[in-house]
Amino acid sequence: MTNAVFLIFGATGDLARRKLFPAFYALYRERKLGDRFAVIGLARRPRTNEQFREDLLESIQEFARYNVTKDEQWSTFANHFEYMSLDINNVDGFRQLSELTNQLDAKFAVGGNRLFYLALAPELFGSVAHNLKAGGMLDSEGWHRLVIEKPFGYDLPSAEKLNAEIREVFDEQDIYRIDHYLGKEMVQNINVVRFANAFFEPLWNNKYISNIQITLSETVGVEERGGYYDRSGALRDMGQNHMLQMLAVMAMEPPSRLHPEDTRDEKVKVLRSLRGFQSASEVRANTVRGQYASGNIKGRQVPGYRQEDSVNPESTTETYFAARVFVDNFRWAGVPFYIRTGKRLPVKTTEVVVEFKNVPNNVYLAKKHKLDSNLLVFRVNPMEGIYLKMNAKQPGSEGTIIPVAMDFCQSCQVGLNTPEAYERLLYDAARGDSTYFTRWDEVALAWKYVDKIAAGWGERTDDLYLYPAGTWGPERAQQMLAEDGFRWWPVQGQEEDEVTWEFVQR
Ligand code: BG6
Repeated sequence: MTNAVFLIFGATGDLARRKLFPAFYALYRERKLGDRFAVIGLARRPRTNEQFREDLLESIQEFARYNVTKDEQWSTFANHFEYMSLDINNVDGFRQLSELTNQLDAKFAVGGNRLFYLALAPELFGSVAHNLKAGGMLDSEGWHRLVIEKPFGYDLPSAEKLNAEIREVFDEQDIYRIDHYLGKEMVQNINVVRFANAFFEPLWNNKYISNIQITLSETVGVEERGGYYDRSGALRDMGQNHMLQMLAVMAMEPPSRLHPEDTRDEKVKVLRSLRGFQSASEVRANTVRGQYASGNIKGRQVPGYRQEDSVNPESTTETYFAARVFVDNFRWAGVPFYIRTGKRLPVKTTEVVVEFKNVPNNVYLAKKHKLDSNLLVFRVNPMEGIYLKMNAKQPGSEGTIIPVAMDFCQSCQVGLNTPEAYERLLYDAARGDSTYFTRWDEVALAWKYVDKIAAGWGERTDDLYLYPAGTWGPERAQQMLAEDGFRWWPVQGQEEDEVTWEFVQR
């Protein structure tokens, strides 16, 4: 049931414009939203309802999956949206908001449900939660859910403090912490592919898998977010959340039931099994950090990180981060998970590569030939699909063995209409399905792991490598895998692709 009044705090911001409003529109067009809903946009600056609806139209025209024209259908949709200027520190404003909310509730026969979406800086979460209660916003019959964006704290102590403030007002079960990677189609597909296929499920362990590689590479720099990013860095911006979440999804046991808490329990077990670093030297041996210098990306000259707006010209913040991670449990003992992310890398891609162990060496094939490893690749972003690389005889040859590929390209089939992560997540929150949101214990364990890395790096910066924009980051990240006898497999779009995979039949 998606009947609700949705209250969007930060309605004039980038997230609302690029993601939330287009998501509302897509859900509406797909009839998932129904008619018994209202959306109130909230921000400090004054805006009339008409202006707000114009902004809404522009954002949808620019970012939505569906085309929109200003016709009758549009007016019916836009009528569900109102705007109110609100000072979030003033409880009187929340009382007025409460009145407006109740009016819209009556107008659209909503029935009392409220979804509060905080697209705001986390420092404001506590006072918003407090004033929601004080202003009577939680008095309606029906459910009251809080959806919050990352970053959830800067480290474990700050996350604990933030959590305590929110928990004074909301129960854990009503808090929906967004990690938009969990809303991506292919991340959700990982468990289906794992658990629903007889030829993967039995192999999903340290007997058959040699290592797992997770790459989240971006071509963008820090754009207009220099102020936030310079304090955060790649480890906190991507490592603590998206990367550890994807790792947990890859490594978790099958849940006993398809219930949100069962899935989240299994991820918690993985996060609890992460081998924490005990010393600064362990951190140094198992992590790599880098920062982009000026360089050339897709033929365009771009400035270095330290020259970006709102970034300290002597900043030592990492824009690249890689790590060798171990999950100390029975299933994964001895299997390294290599994770890496960076800004200003040559391609934008998110991929997970599962590398299988080789067939035994005494088999006649392996004696005579150098066999390539079997790979299973989840392509998450921007192309979606599954790629399987195996060995086969070259047709017409005397027994030459070549790597061949089976390529399931989901985005080629479903095209641009694959739901955006935010559509899925907004819909799930409105239905009360928290499977793809992070629970507090997951967040806390991830911070615990990440805090040890940050502490290991400490004040020393002699291991912060500078890499030219448009390259694959510090060489040390290649060495880290080479020490274990592995290498990063080329991701889709990487130039090396053409060289390494030249025999792959498509
Ligand atoms: C966000 C990070 O969580 O994820 C950004 O704060 C990053 O720095 C973004 O650019 C990447 O998301 P996506 O969906 O474009 O891969």
